Amino acid sequence: MRSQLLCAGFFALQAFAASWTSTPFNPPSIPLAVRTPYLNTWLPQGQGVALNDAWPSFWAGQITAWSGFVKVDGKSYSFLGAPVVDGSPFDKATQKSFTFTSTQSIFVLSAGPVDVTVTFLSPVEATDLVKQSIPLSYMHVSVASTDGASHSVQVYSDISGEWVSGATEWDIQWSTTTTDILSHQISLVSPAKYEEVNDHSQYGTWYYSILNSKGATAQIGRDVVVRGQFLNNSVLSTVKDNNFRAISDSWPVFGLAKDLGKVGSTAAAVTYAIGHIRDPAIKYVLAGNVKQERSLYFWSKFSTAQQLISFFLNDYNTALATANALDKKVQTDAGKISPDYAGIVELSIRQSLTANELTISKNAFGQWNTSDVLYFMKEISSDGNTNTVDVMFPASPIFLYLNPKLGEYLLEPLYRYQASGLYPNKWSVHDMGAHYPKADGHNDGTDEAMPVEESGNMLIMALSFARATNDLTQIRRYQKLLDQWTQYLIEDSLIPAFQLSTDDFAGQLANQTNLAIKGIIGIRCMAEISKLLGDNKKYTNYSSIAADYVTQWQTLSASKTGPHLTLAYNNDASWGLAYNLFSDVHLGLKLFPQSVYDEQTAWYKTVANKYGVPLDTRHTYTKSDWEIWTSAIVTDTSLRDLFISSIKGYLSSGLNNQAFPDWYDTITGVAEGFRARPVSGGHLALLLV
Ligand SMILES: *[C@@H]1O[C@H](CO)[C@@H](O)[C@H](O)[C@H]1NC(C)=O
Ligand SMILES: *[C@@H]1O[C@H](CO)[C@@H](O)[C@H](O)[C@H]1NC(C)=O
Ligand SMILES: *[C@@H]1O[C@H](CO)[C@@H](O)[C@H](O)[C@H]1NC(C)=O
Ligand SMILES: *[C@@H]1O[C@H](CO)[C@@H](O)[C@H](O)[C@H]1NC(C)=O
Repeated sequence: MRSQLLCAGFFALQAFAASWTSTPFNPPSIPLAVRTPYLNTWLPQGQGVALNDAWPSFWAGQITAWSGFVKVDGKSYSFLGAPVVDGSPFDKATQKSFTFTSTQSIFVLSAGPVDVTVTFLSPVEATDLVKQSIPLSYMHVSVASTDGASHSVQVYSDISGEWVSGATEWDIQWSTTTTDILSHQISLVSPAKYEEVNDHSQYGTWYYSILNSKGATAQIGRDVVVRGQFLNNSVLSTVKDNNFRAISDSWPVFGLAKDLGKVGSTAAAVTYAIGHIRDPAIKYVLAGNVKQERSLYFWSKFSTAQQLISFFLNDYNTALATANALDKKVQTDAGKISPDYAGIVELSIRQSLTANELTISKNAFGQWNTSDVLYFMKEISSDGNTNTVDVMFPASPIFLYLNPKLGEYLLEPLYRYQASGLYPNKWSVHDMGAHYPKADGHNDGTDEAMPVEESGNMLIMALSFARATNDLTQIRRYQKLLDQWTQYLIEDSLIPAFQLSTDDFAGQLANQTNLAIKGIIGIRCMAEISKLLGDNKKYTNYSSIAADYVTQWQTLSASKTGPHLTLAYNNDASWGLAYNLFSDVHLGLKLFPQSVYDEQTAWYKTVANKYGVPLDTRHTYTKSDWEIWTSAIVTDTSLRDLFISSIKGYLSSGLNNQAFPDWYDTITGVAEGFRARPVSGGHLALLLV
């Protein structure tokens, strides 16, 4: 039944173009509740799907049923999801508009004589570690009369057990808390700590809540029973369904209703909070191979989930004001480049930050240690690793723009681990653990090897964040490691051995021109780091090594047949996006001569396809993050704008329905396998130069 409905939705999207306005444009998928790797629900679009045309879904595709009805003078309308309730007829509200910003997705639907405005707010609180670590999102439902008269209005919404696991055969249990909040709690009967099923967390508790104010009611039960109860009676029943069962066994749903009373042209509203709390959140390896359990930062301020949810619900107006201010700042900053660019950035921000979680530990006395902040990132979609260095690197512009301290918190777990001596290789590790939320390290040294890539990335990020925070503590503490990686780059970056770069889907290759750029910039970054730390001898030495390598590299990397850099030395017909030059520009190093930039600018213009410039000559696909990085170094604004408009064209083509897939084909405009990845933070690169 469920899947049939979903299919109907997908067939429909081939057949019609949206009848509502979409601002700034209609993206492949709309972020609804997107705050953590697990609170990650979207509304897939294709050519356009209204909020009440289909079920919302998890980034990986599984349905996370979320329904909503409004009753107006006794007449029922659905505004969210695709519920079917035999015997209780309702109309579908008509979607009039959709708008997205950096923090919000806002839908306006008309339901008879009222307009229903549904605002999905996933806060971005980059400088408030307590708020940024709260794993909750808002749905704010606001109703106002459009015909001058007052109307009796009740609002209803529920979630299903599908939010709780990645497979529907698992048994779930539930309860409802009634204090100053009305809050449903749903968890697995047999949870598995630190495990995932189809990328959903397999432990912790889901919460769906509203304030317990006048006219608020709650009910748990079979989908058609709870929804039918509201549709028939406008209020939920106190009848309890305590028959704990599988997610798909008579589909239990968790409903919350609110009687808004008589509503005129002044809006009346109800705010829902949805989220998932697991504790501990992360397992992290310490020196001596001891495993530490780490918790989300907000626990330093709240001692129960109920306290947290109550705070969060009461904080809505403040959260909205903060969100509106950030939205405006992004629109102003990115709008200086172009409106298309602003739209790309706005679509990227929630997606990038949702991959990350801020953690703290307890000290020996059992007290939270807020000086011990580690930030963890899930490599969503590509392989689920924890703190993948070559995913943090493309994402890094978002931290540099919003709060560079977050970048240091993200590097810290990698530094500590490698300073502990547990990792055996002389180059930088690829990631902190093979699967999130475990950060177990790779004590056998058999992590996915990207030696030049990751060593270069660490050095570039070390310098970028130290400069942006104006704080040398971290580079001073880990200068030995940074120097160790520099020695490796001095050995292997000018003539990079047969190896992977971050674009591992394209395969291994020797002598990669773009990889050599990264390695050489890495060496130069260590020169800058040494200067900051007062070691001028090292600064001079490493600067001159980097400069000498650039001279040699110019001969090695130039195509003899075309005026462009090669993809790999000695392959004159090959070329690629030399996006690693971005760090030379961003950090003001002026390491590579202007002629390289001019030549590449002229070249890319001749090889652009309908939806952008291919990543390299091996395939017609590209990466949106690397296109934006490249657009930030070309010397001609019309080429910069061509990159931007190609990506905007791809996003708004109606050909795709996944969360901003960064990997796609430049000829067909169809997405490849990646979706919802944190590298979308790299789309902010143009805001840094
Ligand atoms: C709602 O009313 C319809 C029509 O009378 C009935 O078939 C259905 O069982 C009712 N649902 C509930 C949950 O009471
Ligand atoms: C808190 O964490 C910091 C950073 O890891 C550490 O240096 C400090 O000793 C810790 N404090 C206590 C009281 O454990
Ligand atoms: C890499 O390039 C160098 C310099 O041109 C060359 O000597 C070497 O054979 C190349 N390596 C491979 C594997 O092609
Ligand atoms: C410069 O650095 C290289 C690589 O670490 C080292 O071998 C060399 O001795 C250094 N030269 C000086 C003059 O310090």
